Amino acid sequence: MSALFNQQIQPQIQQIQPYTPGKPISELQRELGLTHISKLASNENPLGASPKVLAAIEQALKDIGRYPDGNAFFLRQVLSEFLSVPMSQVAVGNGSNELLELIGRVFAGPGDEIIYSQYGFAVYPITAQIVGANFVEVPAKDFGHDLNAMGAAVTTKTKLIYVANPNNPTGTLFGRDQWETFMAKIPPQVIVVLDEAYLEYVERADYANGMDYLSRYQNLVLSRTFSKAYGLASLRVGYMVASEEIISYINRLRAPFNVNHIAQVAAATALKDQDFLQQTVALNCAGKQQICQTLTQMNIAFIPSEGNFVCVQFGQDAMALNQRLLQQGVIVRPVANYGLTEFLRVSIGSEQENQHFIDALKRVHNA
Ligand SMILES: Cc1ncc(COP(=O)(O)O)c(C=O)c1O
Repeated sequence: MSALFNQQIQPQIQQIQPYTPGKPISELQRELGLTHISKLASNENPLGASPKVLAAIEQALKDIGRYPDGNAFFLRQVLSEFLSVPMSQVAVGNGSNELLELIGRVFAGPGDEIIYSQYGFAVYPITAQIVGANFVEVPAKDFGHDLNAMGAAVTTKTKLIYVANPNNPTGTLFGRDQWETFMAKIPPQVIVVLDEAYLEYVERADYANGMDYLSRYQNLVLSRTFSKAYGLASLRVGYMVASEEIISYINRLRAPFNVNHIAQVAAATALKDQDFLQQTVALNCAGKQQICQTLTQMNIAFIPSEGNFVCVQFGQDAMALNQRLLQQGVIVRPVANYGLTEFLRVSIGSEQENQHFIDALKRVHNA
């Protein structure tokens, strides 16, 4: 940064540590000259998008010369039917990432407090920095959200609490009892953002589905995405469900054409293809077993996960092991930026990709 601009940049923006994305396959191919690469670094769907979505995209291509529908009418209508809420309670965004930031901007500013959990998704502290709010990171319990402690951290300055269920990168889940006790204690003017990016993968019966609580809590905001189980990560589309009033403020802030036409068509088609979703979930369930069984056999600890990834404890060797896995063509995700220096996060891939990881791990572990 030149000395001229150094003084001009907003101080809270200067301090932002940018979000670290997973390494793209093409980058590793360039760096190491490898051809057989398995990317298990960004919690994507190993099946990609459904065939019905691909067909709908092909149809929609002829319209890309025109601006998209700025109100995403059709997509919000499909979401409204799927979720049984009025369209006025649904906003769509350029990935749920955009909406998670916008909700922060709607409610918090300099001097306010935003609460999130240790090991919570990286976008929460980044948002707090962007809006100039003070962030309150509450220590995790068993790698998951300590909802009691998070509730106790609320002060008169608290504007917003971010909770992820399941959480990324740990894969931890809180159940209905914990959630209900937590919500009962939160003052009604404090916004609770429940990030359900991985809800489709949850197997536990006591899962607290945010939709069951929306009518009870005016301060509850749900965030969901088409990037994970629906296989549309590159198209960038997510949605928020909340009271009509809150959604109207998000709509004031968002860019007029924040979700492109192809993404709108793809997301609406994906939502209707629940058979593909079931296939995705079944593949994830089998793949998680495939990986976790091997880890158990190899005596390697991991955090039990309700998502499409597992956070594995490799100890002090984690970063070196990451390099050795890269040499074998397997991209996983270091999570040292979350303070999880002994862990690597492994996304669940196809059976072949998982096997590639397992074979590589057996070759390089303790090498
Ligand atoms: C917990 C959580 N929330 C939100 C997101 C954002 O996803 P997207 O912007 O692709 O919808 C992610 C992505 O990794 C995530 O892990």
